[in-house]
Amino acid sequence: RNILVLHGPNLNLLGLREPQHYGADTLDAINGRLIAQGQAAGAKVEVFQSNREYELIERIHATFADQTDFIVINPAAFTHTSVALRDALAAVKKPFVEVHLSNVHAREAFRHHSFFSDLAVGVICGLGARGYEYALSFALDYKAS
Ligand code: DQA
Repeated sequence: RNILVLHGPNLNLLGLREPQHYGADTLDAINGRLIAQGQAAGAKVEVFQSNREYELIERIHATFADQTDFIVINPAAFTHTSVALRDALAAVKKPFVEVHLSNVHAREAFRHHSFFSDLAVGVICGLGARGYEYALSFALDYKAS
């Protein structure tokens, strides 16, 4: 299996950035655990972070041609703004889980709406970096129906 983990803008600053919301783990530490979790299950996990909407859209388009079976995505601030990223996921029709480190529903009202949740297989928020591990564990077991 091939699972793509996408991280949106500002997530490269994890560890430094508002640890009360996002925890102390760096993105490299989180990614390292996800890659190891994939290897232990005999799956390939690719991780990609970008602060640019365009690059995230292009990486999603590339899943048309590559072997990606499942996407785990934290769209970060694009969650609340990006019709374009939503449309890219709708276009490629890959099953995906939406992850947020923080509980977006306990925060500002503008974080309560997501352009992704109704297309997602499921949504995990508020469980910190563990949320990615739960999403990956789901992706590893996922059978397209
Ligand atoms: C986030 C929540 C978003 O509202 C915010 O813009 C982020 C990170 C999270 O993981 O909790 O950048 O997606």
